[in-house]
Formats: sequence, structure tokens, C-alpha cells
Amino acid sequence: MKTLVINGVSHQVEAPDDMPLLWVLRDVLGMTGTKYGCGIAQCGACTVHLGDEAVRACQTTMDMIDGQPITTIEGAAMNAIGAKVQAAWLEKEVVQCDYCQSGQIMSAIALLSANPKPTDADIDDAMAGNICRCGTYVRIREAIHAAASA
Ligand code: FES
Ligand code: FES
Repeated sequence: MKTLVINGVSHQVEAPDDMPLLWVLRDVLGMTGTKYGCGIAQCGACTVHLGDEAVRACQTTMDMIDGQPITTIEGAAMNAIGAKVQAAWLEKEVVQCDYCQSGQIMSAIALLSANPKPTDADIDDAMAGNICRCGTYVRIREAIHAAASA
């Protein structure tokens, strides 16, 4: 049994040490906002925050979580930057099919938390690990700039 603090709420979780956080979130806790894309750290659909860092939940196993709080898309708007990013996503109508977008938003929040005024190059660099099969990259970049100046 391990205590996971997710979006400010403590959960007692019974899961093997090698179980990826993605399956803990989706299958054990029923939090399906975090998506399964590739399972091999190539698409970014499963991005969550472990502490302040954006991580791939498909490659973050239970034994790698040592008291750091976890933030998922369900809790993304709990801080001011997350709320601005979600508002900018709506304003710029970023979403197409939506499958990649919870991961995109979590990466964008991590970027703006570390770099409040990113350049296009900073954005491209920080978001390079988040793949969008619908090609929403131009609107993602616009929304990040909008959130940065909100
Ligand atoms: S599902 Fe984790 S990076 Fe693709
Ligand atoms: S919006 Fe469809 S995969 Fe990104």
C-alpha cells in the first residue's frame, strides 16, 4: 500500500512496484483524463507532473514515486498558470480530436512554470515530445503565447 497525493488528494493505492503510473491513474483510480498513446515515452499523451516536473506516466512506475505530489489534467487548473493555459486553449480553439491534448496542456504548464515568457524556439523545444496526429501545433504555440501574456 502506498499513499499517492494526486491533485491535492491522498489516495491509498495497492499496486505492484513496477506498475506504470498511467495504469494506476486510469485503471486503479478511474482517472481517465490522462491518455495512453504509445506506452514507450514517444508521444506525450500520458504527460503528468511529478512534483514540478512533466513526466511520462507510461514510464513512471510506482517505485519511482517517493512522496512527490502528482498533478494530472483533472487538477491542471488548480494553480494560476494551469488556469491560464486551459483558458487560452479554449480561446484559441486548439483542440481537434482531443486525444493528445491533456498531455499537451500538462507540458505547456510545466514550460510556463519554468519559463514565463517562452520564445517560439523555447516552445518548440519544450513541446517536441508531445505528438499531435491532428497537427494542432500552430494553435498550441499561439495558446502558449496567449497564456504567457494573460
Ligand atoms: S503513452 Fe506515454 S509517452 Fe506515449
Ligand atoms: S488533437 Fe487529435 S491528436 Fe492532437
